[in-house]
Amino acid sequence: MEQYAIKGGNPLVGDVEIAGAKNAALPIFAAATMTDETVYIDNIPDVRDIDMMLDAMANIGVTVKRTGRHSVMINGGNIHNLTVDDEGSKKIRGSYYLLGAFLGKYKHAEVVLPGGCDIGCRAIDQHLKGFRALGAEMVIEHGLIKARAEHLKGSHIYLDKPSVGATINVMIAAALADGMTTIENSAKEPHVVDVANFLNSCGANIRGAGTDVIRIRGVAKLHGTEYTIIPDQIEAGTFMFAAAVTKGDVTVKNVIPKHLESVTAKLLEIGCEVKEEDDSVRVVAAKPLVHCQVRTLPYPGFPTDMQPQITVALALAKGTSIVTESIFENRFKYVDELTRMGAEIKVEGDTAIIDGVARYTGASITAPDLRAGAALVTAALAAEGFTIVENVKYIERGYEDFHIKLKNLGAQIELVNTDKEFQKFKLKMGQTA
Ligand code: EPZ
Repeated sequence: MEQYAIKGGNPLVGDVEIAGAKNAALPIFAAATMTDETVYIDNIPDVRDIDMMLDAMANIGVTVKRTGRHSVMINGGNIHNLTVDDEGSKKIRGSYYLLGAFLGKYKHAEVVLPGGCDIGCRAIDQHLKGFRALGAEMVIEHGLIKARAEHLKGSHIYLDKPSVGATINVMIAAALADGMTTIENSAKEPHVVDVANFLNSCGANIRGAGTDVIRIRGVAKLHGTEYTIIPDQIEAGTFMFAAAVTKGDVTVKNVIPKHLESVTAKLLEIGCEVKEEDDSVRVVAAKPLVHCQVRTLPYPGFPTDMQPQITVALALAKGTSIVTESIFENRFKYVDELTRMGAEIKVEGDTAIIDGVARYTGASITAPDLRAGAALVTAALAAEGFTIVENVKYIERGYEDFHIKLKNLGAQIELVNTDKEFQKFKLKMGQTA
């Protein structure tokens, strides 16, 4: 099984190119099947979740052609099966966007209950509520979410929570519904806006994405387009915090600095320098880090997907920090692993109380999910000695070339498969124990 072998101690220094946003690409792929014309999508990240989604689509008759490492051609003109239940779709969250897309286009869809990272209860009641308001009958049977409608009709939907997934799914279906749909208390994340922009470039009529009220006037038909996915703000934020944790100097390139404001604000608060340019952000961590308080919130608040990364930094900061996780109730599972590396963190419910320590020490640890996995790698890069990180398959689901990008910034990291390869890595790094 693939593992990262890491020797800590080198500050990360240099430039890193950020890939396209996975969480924008997944719903955009689904939405691309709503037209029978061809859609070209660029700036897609080369990561496992993307492969699984495209494979699931190809299995049911969508024509999917990779036109380059970061581009794909999609044609939904020959879909022969409206049941999506392959193994890959069970593992990823994004597969449920095919429910909205097929419900909009064919008024019928059956999609396996989606997986995704194990970070807490991942309810879908708001998706069901939204589809029902549009006139669909929704049932869950034999592990499938089944949707059927005689006629999809625009409606007024108030989401109990600003769910990213529910906002996008309902917006996708409503693009082809009859009349006006209003989604209130909608999620405002940049990928919600990206999906709306994509749909509009296919001829949809969506206004207000990025605010908490989205209005969708249904159109009869969508057409083909060419579209470029936005940069991944979570990948960017991960490298920005990696700079802080390793006392480095990293410039993240190909980003939209506005999407990174909450991350930038916290980095400034804990003592880093942050310099924004048009499409890049440089983080310099020349001074010791200081404690702060963080609460994860829907955008534009501090993202839950950055919670492990900031915790890893705060565990090395002077003083006591408090991190409150308000989105997913089970997102502190990595703390046990960080404790093995010397962190002093107590978790009480949705809150982590962190007493900063002077250093981490290398250990054998396991990535529990995507973002926590990446965060633990950054801890290992700052640690004294060697770390082995198991379960890197989680990290590869959402970060393109993670260890290669880190290596280019000066990290001592390698992908290994066996203990023998780990020993070899240690020898190469000039230490036998
Ligand atoms: C998306 O998940 C992302 N996944 C997650 O990223 C991200 O953490 C999350 O949004 C929040 O930003 C994808 O885009 C594929 P939500 P999603 O619906 O859509 C509750 C990563 O690491 N809720 O906004 O599943 C839910 O339980 C992943 O890339 C309901 O109660 O998140 C949670 O508490 C991990 N009912 C909150 O809302 C619903 O019907 C936010 O969930 C839906 C959600």
